[in-house]
Amino acid sequence: MADKVVVAVAVAVLVVVLSLAKLKSWLCAKPKPKLHLPPGPWTLPVIGSLHHLMSSPLLHRTLRRLSQKHGPLMMLRLGEVPLLVVSSPEAAQEILKTHDTTFADRITSATTSSMTYNPTNMALSPYGERWRQLRKICVMELLSAARVQSFRRTREEEAARLVAKVAASAAVASSMDMSAVFKAFISDTITRECVGSRSQYHDVYVNAFHEAIRHSSGLSVADVFPSSRIMQMLATGPRNGLACRDRMQRILELVLKEKKEAMDRGDQTVQETFVGVLLRLQKEGDAPIELTDGTICSLMFDMLSAGSDTSTSVLTWCMTELIRYPTAMAKVQAEVRETFKGMSRVTEEDIATADISYLKLVIKETLRMHTQLPLLIPRRCRKACQVMGYDIPEGTTVMVNVWAICRNPKYWDDPEEFKPERFENSNLQYKGTNYEYLPFGSGRRMCPGANLGLANVNLALVSLLYHFDWKLCDGLEPKDVDVSEDVGLVTNKKTSLVLCPVTRIAPADV
Ligand code: HEM
Repeated sequence: MADKVVVAVAVAVLVVVLSLAKLKSWLCAKPKPKLHLPPGPWTLPVIGSLHHLMSSPLLHRTLRRLSQKHGPLMMLRLGEVPLLVVSSPEAAQEILKTHDTTFADRITSATTSSMTYNPTNMALSPYGERWRQLRKICVMELLSAARVQSFRRTREEEAARLVAKVAASAAVASSMDMSAVFKAFISDTITRECVGSRSQYHDVYVNAFHEAIRHSSGLSVADVFPSSRIMQMLATGPRNGLACRDRMQRILELVLKEKKEAMDRGDQTVQETFVGVLLRLQKEGDAPIELTDGTICSLMFDMLSAGSDTSTSVLTWCMTELIRYPTAMAKVQAEVRETFKGMSRVTEEDIATADISYLKLVIKETLRMHTQLPLLIPRRCRKACQVMGYDIPEGTTVMVNVWAICRNPKYWDDPEEFKPERFENSNLQYKGTNYEYLPFGSGRRMCPGANLGLANVNLALVSLLYHFDWKLCDGLEPKDVDVSEDVGLVTNKKTSLVLCPVTRIAPADV
C-alpha cells in the first residue's frame, strides 16, 4: 500500500514538473494535422498512457489486457514516445510482411544503447547497409547449417559433461537447481562455439551480461522522455547498464587479442569458432564490409547475448512443463528410451537419424507457451504509413505481442494447457510465415540463430530425459510448481526449478 502511495506521489510530481517544462513549447507549437490513429486507452498530459502500465511489471501481460479492450492494433503514448502494440496474427502479418521494410528498424533508446556494443551491434542496429552486411556475415558464415553442424563435437562434449554432473548429484540423492545448471550449460556451450574455450574472464563477462540485462529490464524515464535532459540525468538503469557494457567490451577486446595470437600460432581450437571465422575473413579481406576488431567484437557480443538467455529459457521451461505434466513426461521418456535403447551415450548423429517426433512437439509447445521474446525485439516505424486503415506516424515504437497471440483462445484450444499433441497434425513451422506462431519472429529481422538455438537445446534435453527420471523435491506436487515469469526482454522463470534426478540408464564415463 505504502509503495502505491509513493508511486502515485512520484507520478503526480512528475506530471507537474514536466507540465511546467513543456508548457512553453506547447504554447508555441503549431497545430498538427489530425491523424486517424489506432484506438488506445485514455491518456494523461505529459505521461500519456504510462499509468496504464503500472499494474504489473510484466509488460506483455499488461499489454494483452489492454489490447483485449482496445483491439489488435492499439496505440499508446509512453511519455513522448508513441507505441503501437500488435496482438493478432492478421495485424502481425501487416507489420512483419506487408510493411516489412517500413518496420525493419530497431528502436534506439537510453536503455537499448546501454546494451548496444560500440559502434553498433547487429541485433539492435538500425535497418540499413551496415546492418544488411553484418546480417549477411551472420547468416552465411556464422549461423549457416554447415557451421551449426561443425559445432557438433562441442555440443556432444558439453552434453556429456552435463549428464556427468547430474549423475554425480543423483548418486548422492541431492536436489539440483536446474535453472542454474541450464544457464551454465548454455553459457559454456555458446562460449565454446564463439571463442573455442572458456577464457579466464568468462565468469566476469557472464556476470556483467546478466547485470546489464537486469538494468535494461523495463522502461526507464530516459526512454520515455528522450528529449528531456533532466530525465537522462535521473535515469540510473541505463547508466549502470553502460558500466556493464563497457566491462563486457573490454573483456571482448582482451579475448580477441588472445584468440588472434592463438590463430597466429596455428591453434586448431580457434579456427572453426565464430571468432576464428571472422579473423580469417578479416585477414583475407573477404567480408562484405570492413571487419575491424570493433566489428568482430560487436558480432561476438551479438552471438553471446542473443544465444544464451533464449536457449536457457527454452530448456528451463521445457523441463518445468514436463514436470507439471507427468503424462507428457512419461510419453517423451518412453519415446527416447525406446529409440536409443542399449546406448550409454546419445550423440547428435543418433538424433539426426532417429524418429523422436514427440520430443519435437514438446519443444514446439514450450516455444508456444513461453515465447522467449514475448514482444520480439521492438521495431521502429521508418516512415509514416497506413496499417489496417490507421495512420502510423514515423518514429513509432512497435511491439508485436507474440506471447499474447500464442495464448489467445481464438487461435489455440485450451491455450493455458501444455499439450504437445496440438502440433501433431498441424504444419505450423518456425519459419515466421505462420503469424499465430512466431517464436523466432518474422521478416527481415527474424532470428538468424534458430538452428543453432535448437541444436544447443536438443541433445541436452534428449540426454537428460534418456538417462534420468525427474522428481520434485520436498513433497511438492506438479500443480505446486511455480510458473511465474521474471521481468525482462526474455521470459525467464522467476524462481529456480529445483529437481531431484534419479539415474535410470547409467551414462558412459566422460
Ligand atoms: C531457441 C533460442 C532462440 C530463440 C527463441 C530466439 C528468438 C529470437 C527472436 C524472437 C528474435 C527477434 C526477431 C524479430 O524481431 O522478429 C531474435 C533475434 C535475433 N536472434 Fe535469436 N533466438 C534464439 C537463439 C539465437 C541464437 C543461438 C543466436 C545466435 C547465436 C541468435 C541470434 C539472434 C540475432 C543476431 C537476432 C537479431 C536479428 C536482427 O535484428 O537482424 N538467436 N531471436
